[in-house]
Amino acid sequence: MCGIVAIIGNQPVAGRLVDALKRLEYRGYDSAGIATLYESVMERRRAKGKLFNLEKLLSDEPLAGTIGIGHTRWATHGIPNETNAHPHFIEGVAVVHNGIIENFSELRDELTAGGAVFTTQTDTEVVAQLVARYKRQGLDNRAAMLAMLNDVTGAYALVVMFADDPDTLMAARFGPPLAVGFGRGEMFFGSDAIALAPFTNEIAYLVDGDCAIIHRGGAEIIDFAGNPVERPHQISQATAFVVDKGNHRHFMEKEIYEQPEVISHALSHYVDFQTHTLRANDTGIDFGKVSGLAISACGTAYLSGLIGKYWFERYARLPVEIDVASEFRYREIPLSKDQAALFISQSGETADTLACLRYCRDEGLKIGAVVNVSESTIARESDAIFPILAGPEIGVASTKAFTCQLAVLASLSIRAGRARGTLDGADEKQLVRHLTGMPRIMSQVLNLIQPQMESLARDLSKFKDVLYLGRGTSYPLAMEGALKLKEISYIHAEGYAAGELKHGPIALIDENMPVIVIAPHDRFFEKTVSNMQEVAARGGRIIFITDEKGAAASKLPTMATIVLPDVPEIIAPMVFALPIQLLAYHTAVFMGTDVDQPRNLAKSVTVE
Ligand code: M6R
Repeated sequence: MCGIVAIIGNQPVAGRLVDALKRLEYRGYDSAGIATLYESVMERRRAKGKLFNLEKLLSDEPLAGTIGIGHTRWATHGIPNETNAHPHFIEGVAVVHNGIIENFSELRDELTAGGAVFTTQTDTEVVAQLVARYKRQGLDNRAAMLAMLNDVTGAYALVVMFADDPDTLMAARFGPPLAVGFGRGEMFFGSDAIALAPFTNEIAYLVDGDCAIIHRGGAEIIDFAGNPVERPHQISQATAFVVDKGNHRHFMEKEIYEQPEVISHALSHYVDFQTHTLRANDTGIDFGKVSGLAISACGTAYLSGLIGKYWFERYARLPVEIDVASEFRYREIPLSKDQAALFISQSGETADTLACLRYCRDEGLKIGAVVNVSESTIARESDAIFPILAGPEIGVASTKAFTCQLAVLASLSIRAGRARGTLDGADEKQLVRHLTGMPRIMSQVLNLIQPQMESLARDLSKFKDVLYLGRGTSYPLAMEGALKLKEISYIHAEGYAAGELKHGPIALIDENMPVIVIAPHDRFFEKTVSNMQEVAARGGRIIFITDEKGAAASKLPTMATIVLPDVPEIIAPMVFALPIQLLAYHTAVFMGTDVDQPRNLAKSVTVE
């Protein structure tokens, strides 16, 4: 999603703006630009594509100035090209914007009727045009900014720089996140704390309806009516984090291999590794008292929620309503106050998930956030935070956040089972023991399967379509496998419940469509094997991901069989996630795609 940085300081800002934008690259973008103000003249450099294009431009045509704004754009209105790239300039007003101005078309017509000339296809340009119009009408910069904010509707984070004021930057938030950074004699705006980490760790997050005005010496925050508001300063944890791939080729690879370690870290927050019991920390939600659970999320986070549903229902006999957030928010689901709701989000900023949270909060439900970024909007608006503690995830394809979400959901389902009396102390000990053994098993599996995944990926890369099948918790995992493969290799892939095969997808089976079957030797194994037989009978090629018992039990010919150790059922989704992640990763590497920043995708989707 678009990224914003802005600096007002005492040293040249152009290079620092680009460095900060690099730290926002993980969000996804297709053009970038910066603008600075020097001796009353605003100048900008913008380039389509990756930041090195902008850097090249800046080395040929440098920008001076100690005040400036920068932006990485993920195109919504208007194609990704230099003209549509931000910052947008109108008559000494420069704007960078993340989000969508929903009434831009009406505003554009109105401004055009008044003589304005639009030069881009973006919704953002109306912001610059409106501020410029109000200034022409005699309003000062602050009044023009507030007048513009009262005209626009939609979801936005934006920063405005004025050619006639080298000592001030203004920003506003209504939707996508925006933080104020406090330095010594310099001040910042940034889409997140990661962008500002090299400059400062003292952050204040703006909330919806805030307008912030920064000077070199500090910040003033007001609402859209101009009344002062206070926002707490926090010390961001992002400062300690260095955006570094270590000895890996891509962040995604690094994040796959980090999983045993980060899962240990995540689990240790919820369970005691010594006594194999749940930690007694107050969860903020009494699972013993709730009548049901509503879960909502997007993408991979939704699929972890779907696996969580199996666990909450099985171990705690707790009914779970789950849907993708973009549907959940509009379904007008009848909910009752004695239910609790869980929102799962790596970033904690996903617009649809946040909208569902607000819907459930208005319905009076207790809200829990399963998030990676504990300072995020979703976390801040929840009654209870369940951190997944995966550390920053930079690869657009979610890997370690997925398995950490699962580890947390598994722990919470055991907690719910104990609270509801469906699990006793011995069950708790046994399940927790299984969870605590998982990081070791994941390390073994990563070492075991790596060479096979690399060579299998070469074969897989020759196909245009791939089908993934699974039953039970392996069904959402099949969907996750398909999502991972399609998003980074661009191979078309679908995940299906194995039992649905004969209700449609079987028509597609031939030697040109490999079928990846995820089947640990669990309660469903025999049934999944009969689906494999249906595939084999039609000449389909099977890639069989199973365990030692499963490999011994099936005699069917396969294109490849990946054999994992036999593991307890509760940890199978996390362990079996590893081959599907590595297979997608190596296939994409082999095909030469941009693994960490796949085309058209954004890490954090802060618009609807
Ligand atoms: O930050 P979130 O977890 O809310 O993001 C949700 C999805 O956008 C995300 O999981 C997306 O599907 C990933 N690219 C999948 O790898």
